[in-house]
Amino acid sequence: MSTLSERSSPTLSDGAKLTIVVLISGNGSNLQAIIEAIRRQALPVTIGAVISNQAQAPGLRLARASGLTTEVVDHCQYADRAAFDQALRERVDAYRPGLVVLAGFMRILGDSFVGHFRGRMLNIHPSLLPRHAGRNTHARALRAGDTMHGASVHFVTEDLDGGPLVVQARVAVLRDDSAERLAARVLEQEHRILPLAIRWFADGRLRLGESAAILDGVQLQQPYLFSGDGEALESCP
Ligand code: GRF
Repeated sequence: MSTLSERSSPTLSDGAKLTIVVLISGNGSNLQAIIEAIRRQALPVTIGAVISNQAQAPGLRLARASGLTTEVVDHCQYADRAAFDQALRERVDAYRPGLVVLAGFMRILGDSFVGHFRGRMLNIHPSLLPRHAGRNTHARALRAGDTMHGASVHFVTEDLDGGPLVVQARVAVLRDDSAERLAARVLEQEHRILPLAIRWFADGRLRLGESAAILDGVQLQQPYLFSGDGEALESCP
């Protein structure tokens, strides 16, 4: 684990900003999108740590290359899910985050963990929730004959992939699409809507109400539909 003080990157650490902890399991392309948004001054947050359940997650290398603190909480090292969740919760709490971001994190988190971070944990999911909750969303969208697919950011609650929706981006399914090509186009949109949702939270515009997300004081009956460049994150004032 490299400590932030030893290898901190000034563009990614500043005591005055919202501290986030990012949980990953894989490539970390969503993490990289967050890092790049911070670097271009479009995301006023500090990444306290990047924590993975997979020691070999390529995203950990991305994090270290940016001078970020990284940790591994390997789910195989724990007797059961509850023990893993407790260990992960302790490590996340150590950074005192105002927001936890699940960025390609592939473990199902228990009610106790989710309840502890209620209202301050966001997840990115590669489908237009509530359609295609769970895994293999792109293949399922193709099998279902969907003409529209996409990505969603939602608050994490005890309802797996079912928490209040914040923002979505739509991706048209093409006639000769493959799951890989569709996934790549969806990923491009994920890299835009996740930093946007984090920015809204950091700016105090987004919060979790009783049963829905609230943006600028308005309860979101439907997720905000990201339509494209117009909402691209502009640099902080
Ligand atoms: C993304 O589609 C994400 O939504 C899903 O895993 C994929 C890889 O994410 N959970 P990343 O490249 O590790 O951020």
